[in-house]
Amino acid sequence: MGIVLNKEYLKGFVSDQQIQSLAPAVAKAHRDLHQKTGAGNDFLGWVDLPSRTPDALVHELTALAGEVRQHSRAVISIGIGGSYLGIRATLDFLDVQGGLPVYYAGHNMSNADMRKVLRLIETTDVSVVVISKSGTTTEPALAFRLIDGAMRRKYASGELKKRIFCVTDEKKGALRRIADQEGYRSWVIPDDVGGRFSVLTPVGLVPLALAGVNIGAFVDGFRAGEKAYALEDLMQNPAYQYAAVRNLLYAGGKHIEMMASFYPNFQYAMEWWKQLYGESEGKNGKGIFPASTVLSADLHSMGQLMQDGMRNIFETFLMLEQVEEPLLIPRQEADLDKFNCVAGKSLDWVNKQAYLATAAAHHEGGVPNLMLMLERGDAFHLGQLYYFFEKAIGISGYLLGVNPFDQPGVEAYKKKMFALLGKD
Ligand code: PA5
Repeated sequence: MGIVLNKEYLKGFVSDQQIQSLAPAVAKAHRDLHQKTGAGNDFLGWVDLPSRTPDALVHELTALAGEVRQHSRAVISIGIGGSYLGIRATLDFLDVQGGLPVYYAGHNMSNADMRKVLRLIETTDVSVVVISKSGTTTEPALAFRLIDGAMRRKYASGELKKRIFCVTDEKKGALRRIADQEGYRSWVIPDDVGGRFSVLTPVGLVPLALAGVNIGAFVDGFRAGEKAYALEDLMQNPAYQYAAVRNLLYAGGKHIEMMASFYPNFQYAMEWWKQLYGESEGKNGKGIFPASTVLSADLHSMGQLMQDGMRNIFETFLMLEQVEEPLLIPRQEADLDKFNCVAGKSLDWVNKQAYLATAAAHHEGGVPNLMLMLERGDAFHLGQLYYFFEKAIGISGYLLGVNPFDQPGVEAYKKKMFALLGKD
């Protein structure tokens, strides 16, 4: 079935006619992506990456996972931004059984967090995946210095080669030099795939395989997405409609997109989405501000603002059609809390009524909203959703008139920090 886009609560804000009026611009953006004629065309490797990802890589990494399970009880994944969020998003979303737990490092410089990771190495047999496309990012580089030291204190050098894996550029960067010099096994991040688009490369696939994710199904989901969202016709392509709607709402003064889910396991997928959308569109003084909220919890904190605050927000709900092992609400004789009205219904049915109520109430309150429905919460459907968002932001960025594939603004703080650190 793929991903369903529900536009019911755009009524009064965006019409089908307005969406259709963007068809020529969307068709041009489509051609610019597929024929590599648009801005940032040296970073379009992600467009057909799913169909170019070899099954042999899936088999190799599945075998590696079997090998690592023989000697390790946990994995430490070092990386930040695009070298971190997709991994965490996927593992937090999926209910993975039978793999190794993954701990994260290199996504901050917290002393407390690092101490926990170092303690883990002292007490548990671990393997480490170090991920950095540039191979020079401060946070993962420093994390790896500390973790490498702890690994060397615990394991002999032959053992380190079995336990440390690097994912980086083919030729450039300090991490490439370390991998080659130390003889660590390594995988390459393609030049033409930017960090935030890289979850399907070894950046995501190596740690996800070690964690026990069915990476074959994950890759197949991406492949299904590549096929489903390749249609130039706007009205046949929900990813392109999502892109068009966002741009129409932005032009109408809705400058914040709140991604909202009643399924808390989407929390890090929404963090991944924030990087993908914020870094791709936020430039040249333009761009929708991507925000996220987990419901129904946040209805009891952010609900007032969403219903009644400044009307510069639109909302995109992320929903799941089917849940695993639905729980039923029990009937209680006394019915003191008066909830026998839902006895026998599933908890997920009630959750979905909360969505329906929220979407209608926010719409009435001046917040147009969209809904994206995933059929199931598995690796296949998550892969398809990632591709949906990637394709949509490519189109959306071109509609907005920016290069969606660079991130010059990320460098500004680094220059000032390096000056403070005395680094070249
Ligand atoms: O999208 C990007 O390029 C960045 O957010 C990077 O993913 C992030 O800075 C990490 O970079 P690297 O993988 O080079 O360490």
